[in-house]
Amino acid sequence: MNDNSNPIVGVVMGSQSDWSTMEHVTLTLDKLGIEHDARVISAHRTPDLLEEWVGSARERGIRVIIAGAGMAAHLAGVTAAKTSLPVLGVPLGGGALDGVDALYAMVQMPKGIPVGTLAIGKSGAINAALLAAAILAIGNEDIAEAYEDFRRNQTEQGVANSIPEGVA
Ligand code: RP5
Repeated sequence: MNDNSNPIVGVVMGSQSDWSTMEHVTLTLDKLGIEHDARVISAHRTPDLLEEWVGSARERGIRVIIAGAGMAAHLAGVTAAKTSLPVLGVPLGGGALDGVDALYAMVQMPKGIPVGTLAIGKSGAINAALLAAAILAIGNEDIAEAYEDFRRNQTEQGVANSIPEGVA
């Protein structure tokens, strides 16, 4: 799991089984040069550890937290309850309802404790990292430039896209 020396994004997931999706958060942050601290901490299996990690996040230099979890997915909500830092939630697939349960748990947070909820799975993981970059870019020129570059490259690739050969 990635740990940088001066992390400004905290990435937390409820289980090791979430990593195959949540690694797309850290891969995207890496591409943008944003240092992060990624941990497996469960709201129900290790609640005291979660309280400690979230409670000390601001003083450790963390500015945005990204929380990914599946099924009942209370991790993002509990995280948001314990900090006033922005919390972005990534609902994860798996389980009988394949992520719809996690999506509803995050997006239906009662008023007062917001969780910025992204899409289920890999798209949500990548977009959570990009949204964190956009938030951090407000006060950080290097991140603003990296994010603008990413968006420009994406647009250029989109413009250069054509129908694959052999497709009528
Ligand atoms: C949640 O339950 C985790 O975030 C994970 O998505 C789901 C299943 O966890 P495991 O049983 O695979 O550890 O807490």
